[in-house]
Amino acid sequence: MKRATAAVARPAGKRPTPAINDLWYKNAVIYCLSVGTFMDANGDGIGDFAGLMRRLDYLHGLGITAIWLMPFQSSPGRDDGYDISDYYGVNPAHGTLGDFVEFTHAAKQRGIRVIIDLVVNHTSDQHHWFQEARRDPKSRYRDWYVWSDKKPASANTGMVFPGVQKSTWSYDKEARAWYFHRFYDFQPDLNTSNPNVQAEILKIMGFWIQLGVSGFRMDAVPFVIATKGPRVRKPVEQYEMLRSLRAFLQWRVGDSIILAEANVLPETDMEYFGKDGDRMHMMFNFQVNQNLFYALASSDSRPLARALKATMDRPETAQWGLFLRNHDELDLGRLSEEQRREVFKCFGPEQSMQLYERGIRRRLAPMLSGDRRLIELAYSLMFTLPGTPVLRYGDEIGMGDDLDLPERNCARTPMQWSTEPHGGFTKADKPVVPVISEGPYGYPHVNAAEQRREPNSLSTGPSASFACARRSPRSAGATSRCCRCAIPRSS
Ligand code: NOJ
Ligand code: CA
Repeated sequence: MKRATAAVARPAGKRPTPAINDLWYKNAVIYCLSVGTFMDANGDGIGDFAGLMRRLDYLHGLGITAIWLMPFQSSPGRDDGYDISDYYGVNPAHGTLGDFVEFTHAAKQRGIRVIIDLVVNHTSDQHHWFQEARRDPKSRYRDWYVWSDKKPASANTGMVFPGVQKSTWSYDKEARAWYFHRFYDFQPDLNTSNPNVQAEILKIMGFWIQLGVSGFRMDAVPFVIATKGPRVRKPVEQYEMLRSLRAFLQWRVGDSIILAEANVLPETDMEYFGKDGDRMHMMFNFQVNQNLFYALASSDSRPLARALKATMDRPETAQWGLFLRNHDELDLGRLSEEQRREVFKCFGPEQSMQLYERGIRRRLAPMLSGDRRLIELAYSLMFTLPGTPVLRYGDEIGMGDDLDLPERNCARTPMQWSTEPHGGFTKADKPVVPVISEGPYGYPHVNAAEQRREPNSLSTGPSASFACARRSPRSAGATSRCCRCAIPRSS
C-alpha cells in the first residue's frame, strides 16, 4: 500500500514550515457521522452524544482514528444543522456541553481524534445576530451580514442549489433591505470581511478547541473567503484569511488541523494549502472523487490518472482528504458534459436519483448495484490513492438510500445497527428520519451487528482490513492488531 506521506513539492530555497510531529492527519482514517442519526440513547427518536458514546467501541473496532462530526449545535434544522443559531452550545436534542466533553474524552481514551464542522460562511436566519441586525440598522450586528437597498443585478446568479434555490439575494421586510445568501434563503451570509466577524470566527474555533477537538472540517471555504456585496459581480478569494485561521489554531493547540471543503480547480490548490504550507492542512480532493466515479462508470482510468497528476504537488505538510460518498450529492460538476452523462447513465439513470443538475444523490452501495467486488474496488482505491480516507457512516456496511426523502436527505437515514425495530437506532416509535426497513438494503439484511459477527462481511472481510493496516502506531491508545471483534452492544 502506498504511504500517504509520499514526497511532495518543497518551495526552492525555503525551509519547510515546522510540521506537526507525527502528522497524524496523514495517517488517519476519518469517519464522518451525524450525531442525530447515529444512535439514540434516551429513546426520543433523535440521535445523541450518549448514544454515540455507546458506539465508540464499534468505531474503534473498525480501525478508524478520527471522527468528523457534522454540525450538532443549536439549529432550526432546515439544512440538517448547517444553519446554526448558536455556535457555543450543543443542540439540546443531542445532549449537553457536558455530554460533548465526555464524548471527546472517551474518544481520546481510544486514540480517536475528533474534528467538527466549522460553518461560518452563514448563520441561520434565527441566529440572534441576524435577528438583531434585521431589526435595527444601528445594531452592532448589522454589518455582520451583507445588505443592499436595492435588488442587486446579480441576484439571480450564483445559486449553489439550482432547481431548489431561486436567488442569492432575498428581501427582508423587517430590515427593509435585501440580504445576500450563497445557499438557502434561511442562511444569510456573514460579512466575513468584517474584522469583528473574523474575530468571532476565531473565538468559535478557540471555544471548541478548548473542549477537546483536534480541528475543523471547514464548510464552504471558497465562499467564506470571497468578497461579498451588491456590487460584486465576480467574487475574489481573500486567501490571506486562511493563514490567520491556521496561525490562530496552531497557537492555541499545535497539532490541530483544518480540513477544507473547497471544490476548486487544481490551479488554485496551492492558494488553499499555501505555498509554504501555511494555510489549510487538508482539502477534500473533489477532482479525484469525480474522476474516480467516471473511471468506475466507463472503465477509462485516464482522466483519473490526470486528476491525480494535477493534484500531486502540494507542500510537504499538506494532505488530501479522499472520499467516495459524503452527506451531499456526488457532485459531477467538474466533469465534461459527456463524462457526466456517462456517470449518470451508469450510477443514477433516473431523474429521481439526480440532483441540482450536476449530481447523484444516492449512497455508494446502491450506486454500485450492491456488487461486493465493485464496492471493494472503490474502497481499495480510496485507501490506497495518495490521501487520507474519509468514510461516511453506514457505507462500511453498505447501507442504501431512501429516494422518497427530499434532496440530499435520501442518503442521511439512521445508522442500521441490528435486526431490532428501527435497526436498533432508537427505541422510540418514530425516529427523527425513517430507518430503511425494506428491500435489499433494509436493516433486517444490512446491519452492523450481523456484519461484525460474520468473518467475511463487507465490514470485516479483506477490504475492511485496510483501515486497520493504516493505523498509526504512534496514535495514543491505538492497537496494532486487526480488530474485527467489536459487536455493538444492544442499547
Ligand atoms: C456544504 C455542506 O456540505 C452542505 O451540506 C451544506 O448544505 C452547505 N455547505 C451549506 O452549509
Ligand atoms: Ca435522543
